[in-house]
Order: sequence, then structure tokens, then C-alpha cells
Amino acid sequence: MRAKDIRAKAGEEPITMLTAYDAPTARLIDEAGIDIALVGDSVGNTRLGYDSTLPVTVDEIASRTAAVARATQSALVVADMPFLSFGADDGDAVENCGRMLKEADADAIKLECGPHTIELTRTLTELGIPVQAHLGLTPQRENETGLYRQGTDERSARRILDLAREHEDSGAFSLVLEHVPANLAASVTEALSIPTIGIGAGPNCDGQVLVVDEVVGLSERTAPFSKRFGDVRGEMAAAIDAYADAVESGEFPGEEHSHHEPDIEELY
Ligand code: KIV
Repeated sequence: MRAKDIRAKAGEEPITMLTAYDAPTARLIDEAGIDIALVGDSVGNTRLGYDSTLPVTVDEIASRTAAVARATQSALVVADMPFLSFGADDGDAVENCGRMLKEADADAIKLECGPHTIELTRTLTELGIPVQAHLGLTPQRENETGLYRQGTDERSARRILDLAREHEDSGAFSLVLEHVPANLAASVTEALSIPTIGIGAGPNCDGQVLVVDEVVGLSERTAPFSKRFGDVRGEMAAAIDAYADAVESGEFPGEEHSHHEPDIEELY
């Protein structure tokens, strides 16, 4: 799958996208036929124990992206550019984004967008680095906006629509819309020819994305707009308890998990 294939799905068939942070999960996502595996900076909260996405580094995303890319055959692998890896200096931004394709084998990068990413999107696209734009709630700005729904009044809704158009004009191949009113997401989807992919943005986007830990039920908490489709956390807890009990009771390892070497019988 290439960025242009995702772009071509706008208005045609629903786009499926999930986060992935490691090879085994990426393999399952790929085998399920999910269109896009996003190596989200949500890895900071979900897997790295940070309490926000802000501390996530370029190296952390590059390493996770490489693992996901190694396990993926057909899904588009998108590397989420972490806080301050872009936006301050365009030369540094190009280098950081380029690393994701050159070193980590990503197919595209995602930017949490604002006015400062319009020209950067154009530059990256011209250089051959496909850009997925992200508007609405952009958690890298949580110190300014909080983690609340965005675009809830006329002015901020208009701003999101304008920025969406400007990023489309700059060459973005798709747009993630996070935690915005469903009617705003519908208007943006209508206004753009590139696909919109919603998270907490209602049913009228061209696709949907969720955090995989919430979908499989691995995380302790689930965002109100998300949905658990499994109970991996419960399964893991039960298996870990069963292992601890088996070791403590002497039941594990049994004969079937042990190996005896006749030649070293006399050693002691
Ligand atoms: O980092 C992430 O997981 C994301 C998705 C929520 C879109 O940006």
C-alpha cells in the first residue's frame, strides 16, 4: 500500500487505521488487512510509561517504526513525528522526517498540524516524503489546549476547515481529525478531496483510527470516543497469575519442560 492508494480511497471505501508499536502487533494488523499502521507518539502513554506524548523522542519513534515495518507487508506504515522534531527549524524537520523513510522504512510521516506545518508539508511532499496531516485535538499542544474536544465554536471550527484545505493544497495525502464534532468532521470531509480519518470525529469521515491498546483491551483506560473489542489485559493478567502460581507451587517446570543430558550425570 502506498500513500497514493490511501488517497484514492477517499469517498470510495472506508479506510481502516490502527496504531502499532511493535512487530507482533503490526503482523496481526497487517494480516487483518488494516490499511494503515500508525506508529503513534501515543507510544509514550501506552508503552513507555510517560504521562503524555511530549517526552517521546525521534529515536523512540524510529526504533518502533522499524519494528513495525519489518512485520508489515501490505499496510501503509506511518511514523508519527514527535513533539519538537518539526516546527522550529525546517532543516531539522526534513532530516528527522527523512530518517523515518531512510532508516526506519516508513512509507509516510504524520504531523500534528497548525499554520507552521503548511510550508513544511509542501517541502516534505516535494522531497518525496508523504505527509498525513492531523488537526482537531493535537495532544502535543496539550499544555495550551488541554485534551478536550476542539472546533466547538464557529471560529475554531472555521480555523480547522481552513487549515485542512491549506494542508491539502500543500500536498498532504490524508488528514486525521481527532476529537471534533461529527458535523464539523462531515463538513471537512465534504470540502476535501483527500480522505479524512476520524478518531472521536463521528461516522462521516472516510476512515477511522483508534489506539490499538484500547481496541484490544490492553490499556487500563479507554477514551470516551473509543471502544474496546477485546480483553487482552484480562488475558495477560490471568496468564501471569497462573505462571506465578505454577512456579510457587513447584508445578512448573514439569518433566515435559526439562531436559536431562546423560553424559553429565556423574558431574556431581
Ligand atoms: O499518536 C497517536 O496514536 C495518534 C492517533 C490518536 C491518531 O496520533
